[in-house]
Amino acid sequence: MATNRTFTMIKPDAVQDNHIGGILSMIEAGGFRIVALKKVQLTPERAGQFYEVHKERPFYQDLVKYMSSGPIVAAILEKDNAVADFRTLIGATNPANAEEGTIRKKYAKSIEANAVHGSDSDENAQIEGDFYFPANEQF
Ligand code: CMP
Repeated sequence: MATNRTFTMIKPDAVQDNHIGGILSMIEAGGFRIVALKKVQLTPERAGQFYEVHKERPFYQDLVKYMSSGPIVAAILEKDNAVADFRTLIGATNPANAEEGTIRKKYAKSIEANAVHGSDSDENAQIEGDFYFPANEQF
């Protein structure tokens, strides 16, 4: 059953290029509510943990290096049918295949530096959100 939350990261290239505001605007205009938000820089160890499902893929080492190369913005988003609708809003992983009007069409530079991450399932949305926003976090 579709839940109403997904998780996203604005990746280092888009943060570096000053696109945090532009991307968050597209997210809000797309009908999503930002329920949690933070800007952090991952260590290579933490980036490796986040992308552990891709450990055996040939691009894993480069992905870990890239994702720890500068700050990212992590967010939990809310909307009916959030996971599927957000994947539609961001467009294809490879920006060469991303449709007009999507976040990746506008901001992505390459399959690696593709501006944003979006969870691929309700289960992963929960796991990825918890990774950045643990329930016991204190301020
Ligand atoms: P993301 O949705 O964050 O999930 C895994 C990431 O690996 C993906 O976006 C891409 O940025 C990155 N990646 C790098 N190379 C590839 C590739 N050849 N195929 C799929 N993903 C890739």
